[in-house]
Amino acid sequence: MSKLVVLVSGGGTNLQAILDAFPNQVISVIADRDCYALVRAANAGVAAHLVDRKLYRDELSERINALIPDDCDLIVLAGFLSILDSQLIQRFNHKIINIHPSLLPRHGGAGMWGIKVHQAAIKSGDQESGCTVHYVSEEIDGGAIIAQAKVIITPDDTAESLQQKVLAHEHELLVGVIRKLLSIN
Ligand code: GAR
Repeated sequence: MSKLVVLVSGGGTNLQAILDAFPNQVISVIADRDCYALVRAANAGVAAHLVDRKLYRDELSERINALIPDDCDLIVLAGFLSILDSQLIQRFNHKIINIHPSLLPRHGGAGMWGIKVHQAAIKSGDQESGCTVHYVSEEIDGGAIIAQAKVIITPDDTAESLQQKVLAHEHELLVGVIRKLLSIN
């Protein structure tokens, strides 16, 4: 049985999609702040850890690292907003994936998360946006792209409506990639 660890910071709709698709494979959920995703983990009976980014600052990655067992098959950043250090990234080389709410390399990098990504897409006059699942490397949002899903931006779209459109595609994209990487049918 594959072992998944999911890192979260927010509402956890991506986490929920993972819990629904792989009910027996998520061994723990780790949050860097108090958030609704922790409630979702608890409701699913999954071990949930809060490693507060404000409390631990420079030690955040180290503490997260200590919570993840060597035999973890995949770490999924599902709306996780802190930056992981190279020690953790190198320990789980090609075993950490992230979902980002744009068509990378557009609108990625430091400070680009959540609604800011969609504001940037609207402001740039983009005609399409979407979401990307990629491997996590030491370059923020710069790791190899695994899969993308596109959405059309219509003239009446706002950053908020675009966010909802993109989020609706994220769940399927992320679950599909996890299924493929772990070869779960
Ligand atoms: C998602 O849209 C995800 O792509 C984004 O945060 C949201 C989390 O939603 N991630 C980033 O912006 C990372 N740079 P969720 O908590 O409902 O899954």
